[in-house]
Amino acid sequence: MSFPSHENLEEALLQCSACPLCKDAIGPTSCNGSITSPLAIVGEGPGGVEDEYGVPLVGPSGKLLDKALWSVGVTRNCVYTTNVLKCRPKGNRTPTVEEGAFCASRWLDEELSLVQPKVIIALGSVALKYLKDPHGRITKDRGQWFETKYGIPAIATYHPAYLLRLTGPALVKAKWEVFYDLQAAVTKCKEQAPDWVSKSDEPTDLLSLYEERRQERRGTRNEI
Ligand code: URA
Repeated sequence: MSFPSHENLEEALLQCSACPLCKDAIGPTSCNGSITSPLAIVGEGPGGVEDEYGVPLVGPSGKLLDKALWSVGVTRNCVYTTNVLKCRPKGNRTPTVEEGAFCASRWLDEELSLVQPKVIIALGSVALKYLKDPHGRITKDRGQWFETKYGIPAIATYHPAYLLRLTGPALVKAKWEVFYDLQAAVTKCKEQAPDWVSKSDEPTDLLSLYEERRQERRGTRNEI
């Protein structure tokens, strides 16, 4: 399927019931940020807060991502953020490679073909496996550029949820690695799109921005 505009795509996506995952979620989630950004961030799939708000990376992982992006001069309103999976797997389990591929070939591929970013950041293992190689390993592959099937260069880094589980020296090391990966992505992006405005003066308040959608979703909540 191909969509004439991002708005059409989002409308169809929010109605998707193509696989069983939507039965255990409030509903599919879409994307946030700028649909004209040269930088796209691809996460795994929605957690509980994202399922409530209908958009990616607005819960604890999203807050950490905001801080990490701020440290490299980027605010969330200036990037396009999305996920491989659009529905939250029951109990927040890690989705299988097959579930990721089923969903992403329907939605993520279409999104990226409309947005046409210059650089992609794959956040964590699920995104790495879809965008690079089903056998990819985040500990081995992070920080290395690869070419996606879209012809767009991508770099993988640790998922913020992984950082939230670390402590002590392991946390310090992983945070620096993420910092350097994000910095590399932003540098490449600015080379490709020199006019890109990467940040605004204030961090983006995504929860306020999507409060109305949260209220609407409360009214249509699946019985779960
Ligand atoms: N983790 C993700 O990868 N995406 C989200 O939207 C939330 C948590």
